[in-house]
Amino acid sequence: MSEHTFLRGPADWWRDAVVYQVYPRSFADANGDGIGDLRGIISKVPYLSELGVDAIWISPFYPSALADGGYDVDDYRDIDPRIGTLAEFDELVDALHSRGMRIFIDVVPNHSSDRHVWFQEALAAGRGSAARERYIFREGRGDNGEIRPSELISHFGPTAWTRVEDGQWYLHLFTKEQPDFNWDHPEVREDFLKTFRFWSDRGVDGYRIDVAHALVKDMSEPLPSRDSYDVKVMKDDGTDRLFDRDEVHNIYATWREVFNQYDPPRVAVAEAWVPANRRPAYASTKGLGQAFNFDLLIAPWDATEFQSIIDYNLTEAAASGSSTTWVVSNHDVIRHVTRYALPDGVDEHEWHRSGGVNPMPDLAVGAARARAATALILALPGSTYLYQGEELGLPEPIVPDEHIQDPQWIRSSGEMKSRDGCRVPLPWEPTGVSFGFGPAAPHLPQPDWFANYAASVQDADPDSSLNFYRRALRIRKSMTVTDAIEWLDAPAGVMAFRRSNGWTSVTNFTAASYSLPVGEVVLATGAVTDGAIGPNTTVWLQTA
Ligand code: GLC
Ligand code: CA
Repeated sequence: MSEHTFLRGPADWWRDAVVYQVYPRSFADANGDGIGDLRGIISKVPYLSELGVDAIWISPFYPSALADGGYDVDDYRDIDPRIGTLAEFDELVDALHSRGMRIFIDVVPNHSSDRHVWFQEALAAGRGSAARERYIFREGRGDNGEIRPSELISHFGPTAWTRVEDGQWYLHLFTKEQPDFNWDHPEVREDFLKTFRFWSDRGVDGYRIDVAHALVKDMSEPLPSRDSYDVKVMKDDGTDRLFDRDEVHNIYATWREVFNQYDPPRVAVAEAWVPANRRPAYASTKGLGQAFNFDLLIAPWDATEFQSIIDYNLTEAAASGSSTTWVVSNHDVIRHVTRYALPDGVDEHEWHRSGGVNPMPDLAVGAARARAATALILALPGSTYLYQGEELGLPEPIVPDEHIQDPQWIRSSGEMKSRDGCRVPLPWEPTGVSFGFGPAAPHLPQPDWFANYAASVQDADPDSSLNFYRRALRIRKSMTVTDAIEWLDAPAGVMAFRRSNGWTSVTNFTAASYSLPVGEVVLATGAVTDGAIGPNTTVWLQTA
């Protein structure tokens, strides 16, 4: 295992890990069917090792009809044959472990797919059957039950209820192919414990828990109705009908017992879109242990905003006994180069509907800010989650309508943006039918300009984004620091903080240049001229 230069015990490796998210169908395609696969990931293990990440997290690779990019799971203890086999999975785990990297997998407990054996059984068994109890079936309203049981929208469109042949309706907070489990059912609970044992026995080190705040619902009469899932309308006292109910933590306590039966204990990180004050419960060491902090995903490029988010999350993490997480890109949002290239306050759905041209992103600014933001978060305590392709500085491609796969776009008839842009297969080479992704055309089309971002081109360029990430991760790894940061005096719009060993990070959010404090520059995301940096730049200094 990799050497720990942070002041940690061996069971605490996750606290400041840099975790690289692999979206498996879009990472590397070894067998040429246009879909990324486990062999492809195995072939890139040396690349990941050279990049310097501590772990990878693989988004769902389970058998799936891909109604929601694999977040519709047919079988939690198997691999989609288009992606690989369990034997290849074991090989991947070995390849990562032998290079000192860990592996997280994605577990989707709120819903299965409608092809899951339990849902198929529920459909066949009919109303009133024990099999329907594992999901959430209800009668409709109206004389013949023809009106949906309640006025409830789904995340991806107009309704969360779909009617089956015999007239009953089932609940799905996401697509109709993703029926929600009934977590009051003991067999549902037992089956997930079995899943965690299955993968932990295969050497999986950690789990990313999908929609961790939704498992427990109050589905008593009158059934919940809702026309918005905005976090702002969610109750923040544990009594919301659908999300973030206090009882969900009883489930996580039982998972923790399983995690702690392994050495080192398995870890988990919650995807929980809840009000910030509700996050510590998910991050509790009695529960999942860590929760994503998505605050920077939605924050504008602004020093004051960044500073208050950092302060808040460091304090919160310390209070929960966890460590915080920093995220600026993932498979659900516009790549951060492009996000930072758009003016503040742009409606991303509207921007997407314009074909990504109104307003036109200023990619030079976006790229500078993206690097500056990445350097800034890498200097902070806590773990950092990187998304595949961000190390290449990739902007967001717009996928032509006829190729869009994302149910968010499809179910909203194009009103909501497609999340496919950040899921376009990576460019590894500047030429070829898929820019080195694989021997055949990829499952989502790549734009011509992907050639300029190819990993092999960047490898040779010391100033490339890829080499910047490698450098930053190498320096970060060499630091021996405690958790604290100390804010340094700086003018408005400049953010400066220092770690215990004198490692100092300075970010200039202003439009003017800024003269750096005294110290040796160890990393700079932009030019340093006569001891000063320009706008949208982060510098790491070693100070006394
Ligand atoms: C999470 C995933 C997203 C998926 C949804 C439903 O938010 O990140 O990609 O669509 O859950 O499983
Ligand atoms: Ca393939």
